[in-house]
Amino acid sequence: MKKFIELLSDKLKQAFVACGYDESYGRVGISNRPDLCEYQCNGAMAAAKAYKKAPFMIADEVVAKLEGDEAFLEVASVKPGFINLKVNEAYLASYLNEVAADEKLGCTNLGQNKKMIIDYGGPNVAKPLHVGHLRSAIIGESIKRISRYVGWDVVGDVHLGDWGLQMGLIIEEVRTRHPELCYFDDSFTGPYPEEAPFTISELEEIYPTASAKSKVDEEYAKRAHDVTAFLQQGKPGYRALWQHILNVSIADLKKNYSFLNVEFDLWKKESDAQPYIPDMIKSLKDQGLAYESEGALVVDVKEETDTKEVPPCIIVKSDGATLYSTTDLATLVEREKLFKPDSVLYVVDKRQEMHFNQVFRCAKKANIVRPETNLKFLGFGTMNGKDGKPFKTRDGGVMRLEVLLKEITEAVYQKTMDNRTVSEEEGMETAKMIALAAIKYGDLSNQASKDYVFDVERFTSFEGDTGPYILYTIVRIKSILSKCEAVSMNALNQASSESEKALQLILTRFAECIENAAVETAPHKICAYIYDVANAFNRFYHETKILAETDKEKQTGYLALLALTRKVLETSIDLLGFEAPERM
Ligand code: ARG
Repeated sequence: MKKFIELLSDKLKQAFVACGYDESYGRVGISNRPDLCEYQCNGAMAAAKAYKKAPFMIADEVVAKLEGDEAFLEVASVKPGFINLKVNEAYLASYLNEVAADEKLGCTNLGQNKKMIIDYGGPNVAKPLHVGHLRSAIIGESIKRISRYVGWDVVGDVHLGDWGLQMGLIIEEVRTRHPELCYFDDSFTGPYPEEAPFTISELEEIYPTASAKSKVDEEYAKRAHDVTAFLQQGKPGYRALWQHILNVSIADLKKNYSFLNVEFDLWKKESDAQPYIPDMIKSLKDQGLAYESEGALVVDVKEETDTKEVPPCIIVKSDGATLYSTTDLATLVEREKLFKPDSVLYVVDKRQEMHFNQVFRCAKKANIVRPETNLKFLGFGTMNGKDGKPFKTRDGGVMRLEVLLKEITEAVYQKTMDNRTVSEEEGMETAKMIALAAIKYGDLSNQASKDYVFDVERFTSFEGDTGPYILYTIVRIKSILSKCEAVSMNALNQASSESEKALQLILTRFAECIENAAVETAPHKICAYIYDVANAFNRFYHETKILAETDKEKQTGYLALLALTRKVLETSIDLLGFEAPERM
């Protein structure tokens, strides 16, 4: 289905061609003078230079050709050579009725079922989820949903960090506390117990304790290092303990992600990539790409056009250990083997940009991925507190995600329950939904790469550019529609007021907006769009008697418009990763 603005452009193009000019001049844009017109075409200005004619003469000719066209209410040539357009209301309504009948509301299959892997979330096992992981989860989840909506075959992978020193630290700390456990008995032949020797809360206390100890106790740090190495070499007792850490952690992570409406298709881990490393290193050497430098094995990845230094990608350190880049390269080997993705997108803190640049270049150079595979890094900025520094708890600690969610839900609950009569349970459920919308919209409405200030008061406000305002608008529509019998969405009437027309015009832009957000991996464009839709709707709502309308045909048209607005808003927030309650 063509976009509305394309249909208008087609009309203008035909008119330019009919007057003997190139069709490229017929491009139509949204008016930047909404007081004068709805759309405009500035092609006559450019054509004037090419055809050495006065722009207004060209505009006049084109306008004359469009006389009587069903698409336009008004086509005006304005000096020095602008073409101002107003759309015919019947044409607009009939277009929107087609949109309403389309399953994807006019979106095209951009992805053509091609494979995309999105690497997001990226929590580290045994470390509690904190707000730093929040952004990756929120942005990645949204991009996954958007890409899927426009036809990509998407696999979302959490890519757990389970292979680093944190594992050795935890195991070493468990040993210090319980040296008698079978995991540390070299003569033990198994089987190891099914039950983990710790709970999640213990685990979450163990890691910070161990990490702090290792900073002041060199011996301890060295032991943790050795334990990590033994674990990575496959020592059975450590492996068994590691498996417990994973199980306990993953169960907790899944619970937390479900609070966030975030769901991964794959729970792959850094450790899953390890088996691919030896062959990969061999291949890097055989291809003559990897060479020894100061005892380490590296691959050069700098390019002539670089303006800033891109250091070699280190594959093996001088002490023989592999590192983050090795794991990420090997993960690409595995992804290629399992999925042959056309595109791999990483949603990670922007401070890791250099790392991914090196990894991508190395992967291309070494043919780990195909030349046409699109490797893309979407780096996000920091979530700051009101003081402009990274968001912390009141006492300066790292804010845990659960705590943050709970605090905001409670704040919303207080606000919404003040003068309500719903049950405590319903009130709490609603508060959760509003809180999630507040957090997600507050994050997603900023361009991902920018830092932003996490401002609870502002984010939870029911007015302004916020998640709760969007929900409020949807709830308002739902409440009107619930008072009516079945409403069909594609029964729009031609607009009979300015606010009705403005709302209809905005609704024509849905597909364009979603496709654009997909191509540019930019959920903030959807936020900006639905804010406009909500504003246009509320203006229409305040100016129009809907339920009290006595002209039945008119009312049917209004209700269809409400239903379509609701569908556009609900689809959009679903793509952002939250949903609206029934009441609020
Ligand atoms: N676990 C990593 C971190 O906390 C993020 C992982 C990102 N994904 C990747 N393939 N490296 O920093």
